[in-house]
Amino acid sequence: MKYTVTAKEGGLVKADILVRFFGKKEFKRDAAKVLGALGIVAVPDDDFKASAGEVAMLYRQTSGKGALRVMLAGVGEGKTAEEYRKAADAVARKAVDLHLGVLALDCSPIDEWSKQSKQKPEALASILVEGALFGAYRFDRLKSGKLDKEEKDSDKPKAIEELMLAGCGDRLDAVEKGAKAGMIVGSCQNQARDLVNLPGNHLSAEELADAAIEAGKRGGFEVTVFDKKKITELGMGGLLAVNKGSLEPPTFTILDYKPKGKAKKTIALVGKGVTFDSGGISLKPAQGMEEMKSDMSGAAAVIATVEAVAGLGLPLRVIGLVPATDNMPSGSAQKPGDVITTMSGITVEVGNTDAEGRLILADALTYAKKEYDPDVIIDLATLTGACIVALGNSVAGLFSNEDKLAESIFEAGQSSGEKVWKMPLWDEYDELIKSDVADVHNTGGRGAGSVTAAKFLQKFIDGHKRWAHIDIAGPAFPAKGGSKTPGATGFGVRLVLDLLKSWS
Ligand code: BES
Ligand code: MN
Ligand code: ZN
Repeated sequence: MKYTVTAKEGGLVKADILVRFFGKKEFKRDAAKVLGALGIVAVPDDDFKASAGEVAMLYRQTSGKGALRVMLAGVGEGKTAEEYRKAADAVARKAVDLHLGVLALDCSPIDEWSKQSKQKPEALASILVEGALFGAYRFDRLKSGKLDKEEKDSDKPKAIEELMLAGCGDRLDAVEKGAKAGMIVGSCQNQARDLVNLPGNHLSAEELADAAIEAGKRGGFEVTVFDKKKITELGMGGLLAVNKGSLEPPTFTILDYKPKGKAKKTIALVGKGVTFDSGGISLKPAQGMEEMKSDMSGAAAVIATVEAVAGLGLPLRVIGLVPATDNMPSGSAQKPGDVITTMSGITVEVGNTDAEGRLILADALTYAKKEYDPDVIIDLATLTGACIVALGNSVAGLFSNEDKLAESIFEAGQSSGEKVWKMPLWDEYDELIKSDVADVHNTGGRGAGSVTAAKFLQKFIDGHKRWAHIDIAGPAFPAKGGSKTPGATGFGVRLVLDLLKSWS
């Protein structure tokens, strides 16, 4: 999908469909006039309420050079960025379903949207493009089309080819700038979704590392991949223990973006990269196990975020750290009860081999602190089913040892629409992960599973003062029916980008 920006009026530009956004109030006020000018007589009252994400199709009798189809898209109250994102998402989703190639979005009311939402025109343009890319996303690269000849041979567009932002008037430059940024954010987020949707046999730890290398080439930043030998030399005992049952070697990938000028801050982003989580010897039940191809969603979000930061040229140094392996049962796999030594020297009793994410993250956190001593460390991980029980499929769990950082991440969640909710890290929970034979136990019993997992991670930050852990198990890969497009959401990319933008 490419975008274009024009001052020309939406109703006059050549496109397959003209999209007109309306807030609830504006629809009551302006519908007759706006639609009348397009040669549309009336819209029955109940057919369209202009709620955010609601769309309705209308058709003009004659349109000259302009589009014959008109889509009404609701933005609800039009007061938050989220409402505009939702609207663009719904528009693009519908357009792909209808096989429409060229969309013209009428942006003529952009100053009014800007006033209502307190978002600059540039930011709104970015949000519209991000939302459109999000809604247009389909994961079809593993479909050969062999069994669906009609679909394959049809010459109708299978994706949106062009998104035209029309009617921009004297906001042309701002819209252009915003749209460009929106393309970067939206396409990076969709890259993350692709990685997550790829199943275990299409994405090994080495292939995940290759994806990071590709991101580095596109974004112009350095990527280093440690192989098993180097990982062994470094003593990353957590990553090696989880990898023991596997036929494929682990990788540890470092993405290092340095801005042109002086960096305002250094941020380390750590992402869980379990390419498939069978549970290991503590094998998971068959039901739903295939969803565990998504257990590298944290890693995908980190890779995509670093690429987007580079694309946007933010004045921050951002280091991505991705420990990766699958978690498999076999004769060589680690066993429940094993005691391992992590890179930090801390020993861990592995009570349950299915609590593997924290083991590989432990080493990555140690490495982040030791090697870079960054201003901020943030890890993203599909860490616990317990977090889904607590918060459901649309909200991530947030854990942090610094209130101001937690507050900033919460705000970024609100503005990006990728919401987080803060959970406690109180000392009481330490009792639950005590081990009789090692320094710490990798599980904490039935209660507070997402908190004990976070408490475990906290032991490996070595006293770092600004750390946050985001458990994205729920929103990264919502269960069937949990989101409009099946599969991966790329959750975390927009969240962390909004946070990083606020520091830029
Ligand atoms: N990858 C899972 C967590 C998960 C579950 C993510 C469902 C997404 C959806 C993680 O490795 C895991 O298995 N956690 C265990 C921990 C337990 C053994 C202490 C869990 O949540 O059951
Ligand atoms: Mn597991
Ligand atoms: Zn896992």
